Amino acid sequence: MSRDGGGLRTRVKTARGRTAQSTRWLERQLNDPYVRRAKAEGYRSRAAYKLLELDERFGIIQGKRRVVDLGIAPGGWSQVIRRRVPKAAVVGIDLLPVDPIDGVTIFQMDFMDDAAPGVLMEALGGAPDLVMSDMAANTVGHPQTDALRTMALVETALAFAVDVLEKGGTFVAKVFAGGADAQLVAEMKRNFQTVKHAKPPSSRKGSVEWFVVAQGFKGRQAD
Ligand SMILES: C[S@@+](CC[C@H](N)C(=O)[O-])C[C@H]1O[C@@H](n2cnc3c(N)ncnc32)[C@H](O)[C@@H]1O
Repeated sequence: MSRDGGGLRTRVKTARGRTAQSTRWLERQLNDPYVRRAKAEGYRSRAAYKLLELDERFGIIQGKRRVVDLGIAPGGWSQVIRRRVPKAAVVGIDLLPVDPIDGVTIFQMDFMDDAAPGVLMEALGGAPDLVMSDMAANTVGHPQTDALRTMALVETALAFAVDVLEKGGTFVAKVFAGGADAQLVAEMKRNFQTVKHAKPPSSRKGSVEWFVVAQGFKGRQAD
């Protein structure tokens, strides 16, 4: 590793055994201001800033009492919730193990498992007023397949939110490629007073991720 110019940018030499791709990833991590900021401010992931920026723009977190964090690992979003609304009950789920976070109940489990909603709801002890999903499917490098797999996660997260949210509640989810598809947006508009798409500044420009913020859950409607 060497520093160039004024010592501002960290370069990573391709070491034996390290692929060009992982070298690029490491270089980007080392030079990413959000990664540095996360480290300095004690957040486990740069993803924390996406939620903070969405919150600044849409006012998502204040006053929330019960929160579900889908795709919690490594825990940045839940840390944000704990800091902003320390009294809120928080439950999270991820396929990956997560180091404990004080005040957060974490399950290592597939959210697509039929048992997941019940497990989350039992731990939360009441209807959530915020359901957030930063879940992304592991990419296979085939853009359509990757988008479809992530869309399936968003659809399942939305169905869960519509099933469990308290009236007036909020749903935030990561979506792909400029936004949720028309059918999903229609479903959100049917269930929420406002539906907005956003790409927070901390979301990498080259990435296709966007977020959808649906606020003012109308309550369960008769079909
Ligand atoms: C971008 S990360 C979340 C980062 C997190 N919001 C933070 O602030 O630290 C996406 C996570 O979604 C999880 N995930 C993807 N599919 C899932 C599934 N079916 N069930 C549970 N978690 C899933 C992944 O394991 C991954 O940890």
